[in-house]
Formats: sequence, C-alpha cells, structure tokens
Amino acid sequence: MREIRPGVFPVGAIDRDRRLFDELIPLPEGTTYNAFVIRGSGATALIDTVDPSKEGVLLANLDELKLERLDYLVSNHSEQDHSGSIPAVLARYPAAKVVTTPKGKEFLRLLLHVPDERIVAVQDRETLSLGDRTLEFIHAPWVHWPETMFTYLREERILFTCDLFGSHFATNDVSIGDLGRVYWGAKRYYAEIMMPFRTLIQGHLEKIRPLAIDIIAPSHGPAYTKPELILAAYRDWISDEVKNEVVIPYVSMHHSTAAMVAHLEKALLGRGIRVIPFNLTVTDLGELAMAIVDAATVVVGTPTVLTGPHPAAISATYLVKLLKPKTRAVGIIGSYGWGGKTVKELTGILQGFPAEVLEPVLVKGLPTAEDLRALDALADKIAEKHRSYGILGT
Ligand code: FEO
Repeated sequence: MREIRPGVFPVGAIDRDRRLFDELIPLPEGTTYNAFVIRGSGATALIDTVDPSKEGVLLANLDELKLERLDYLVSNHSEQDHSGSIPAVLARYPAAKVVTTPKGKEFLRLLLHVPDERIVAVQDRETLSLGDRTLEFIHAPWVHWPETMFTYLREERILFTCDLFGSHFATNDVSIGDLGRVYWGAKRYYAEIMMPFRTLIQGHLEKIRPLAIDIIAPSHGPAYTKPELILAAYRDWISDEVKNEVVIPYVSMHHSTAAMVAHLEKALLGRGIRVIPFNLTVTDLGELAMAIVDAATVVVGTPTVLTGPHPAAISATYLVKLLKPKTRAVGIIGSYGWGGKTVKELTGILQGFPAEVLEPVLVKGLPTAEDLRALDALADKIAEKHRSYGILGT
C-alpha cells in the first residue's frame, strides 16, 4: 500500500457514485472519505474512519496493511461520514480506544452508541505518543460541527483537518501539489459547508499559523502537499473583502421578471460591475453558493405567485441567509399581476442577515420604460455602494 509519508498510510474510501450529501448538497464529482493509519514504534493509530456504506473498503485496507493491533482511533469529527465505521473498527480491535474532544465523546455516544469506556477525551493541545511519533490534538470547534478538532503529526509535519480544507472530489490521487486541479471543488466545499463559520475559521487559521506543515490532509478530497496554496485560498474566502460582483438568483414565469433581470444585468455591466445571474429552475445550488462567497451584492428576482414570492426565490433567499456570506447589500426585483406581499415575505426571511436591503423594484406586468429607469436607478445605487466599499473606481 502507498504511504504519503513513512509509516502513514491512506486507508479511506472513494465514493464516485454519491451524488447528494445531507440530502441537500449536490456532489457532481463524488467524494472520498479519508482515513489514515499511522504506525509508530510503540503504538498504531487510525485517523478517522469512513462512511458506513464504505466500511468494507476500510476494513479491507486495514487487512491489506496486516494491521493486527490498533491502539488508538482518532475521531476528529463525529459526523457519520467519518465516524460511522467506528463501531466496526472497535469490534475488530478490542484494545483500541477512541480519542476525541469532550464534545466528540458526547456525540459518539449519542449518534453511534459508542460505550464511554472505549473513548478517551483529550484537551486542546494534549499530545499522545506512538513511540517515535507524536500526535498533538488541536481543538477547532465549528468546522462545521461543535466538536471538531485537528490532529498534528509532529515528526512528519502533517495536519489532519477533518472537513476543513476538504473538497468533494472523487480521486485516487491521494495528494496534490497543484491547487488548480481541485480549486473548484475546494471553493464549492467551503461555500456549502464552511462559509457560515467564516469568522471562527479566521481564528483557527491564526491558531495553526505557528505550525510547520508539509501536508494538510482533510477528510474529503486530496491532501495538499503545498499547503500554502489552500491556506491562501481560504484566507481570501474568509476575509472581509468583497468583490465587485452582483449575483442574481431569479425565477420568471412569463418572462417579465426575466426581462427585468436582463435589463439590470446590462445596466450593471455598463457600470463596470461583474454580474452572475442564476435561473433558479436550472441552477445547481452549489454553483450559487460558490458565487456568493465573494459577491458584494445579491439581487433576488421573483414573480409574485398568488400572494408571495415564487417558492424557488424563497428557497434561494433562505439559502443565502443560512450560508452567511459576506454580502453587503441585497436587492429585490420582480413582477406581479395584481398585488401580494413579495417584498414583505423576502425581507422577513432576511431578518437578522446583516446586509443592507436596497429599495426594491417591483413592477406590474411587463416592465415599462419607466420601470426600466427604476432598474437603472437600482444599478446606480449598487454602483454607488460598490464605490463606497472601495471595489469600483469612480
Ligand atoms: Fe465530512 Fe462533516 O462530515
């Protein structure tokens, strides 16, 4: 079996066929569940397990390694795609202890009924000797559950980061030195899973800054043999800086809202602003999530259906609020036939979202010349905002 460093063996599983995670997140490229065996001179450890659907692959990999004894099973994250095979591993290795955070211990008890006597809870910065190898545990809560931690293998300078820095990218290339190949998957992963915890991740990056790291090994996708590439990408994504972009998720039933979106798109482009429209009837939500990582402004376009926004627009607006991007301004545009509470419903969803809500442009029927002038005024307002953010020249 391949080693990523002497005595460090990847024993996880590739899931090329999985197309949905959490019954929510599309996985166009499949995924991997990464697990690693570390053989020390005095003890052996397994870092994480795999989704229960791939338990057989993990156990076969352990067989291939002729792993007769396992001392420690480190659980960096209790979500079942990494912890789900812990019971099977514990059954095979009766002497093995699970090593996790105190919160992780609660979760493993709750989610998998792992008995307390099989779990050792470790404190932040606690170390564990495997003989000639040392594991250091670094608590890193909320990436993206409250119990998460990193494990640092000091002698090989590998940081195992559970989901943080991961990508849903099914590949048998265990490691890459070129972020370009996986950038799209890593950004998409950040957008869908890590973005709500942006400010906490800023703290985690500071915490690991003093570590000498040769490899960052997340629990999904390839490991990074040039860690600075993914660290720099994350520093950009989690920063407070926004880009001169407007994302327009929209839906249109009879082309009136679509005509408004098309006009606003041209008006914004004419003012030097990049525009990324998404027709919500055909949009992959992961693509929309990626687009809002950086955009300064989001404008939701919706017709009024019966008395309120189209359900697709409600869903997209809720997703924006849930993912907590650094968006500074939100607009609402759309067409109605005879009335309704579209603006009230959407602003209600946005309650608590820190972006400024711009003056909406709601028009009756097909937009008139006057309505199009109102969209021009909205484009002027967005340009003015972008100039005030320092991202658009005068
Ligand atoms: Fe990959 Fe949060 O589990």
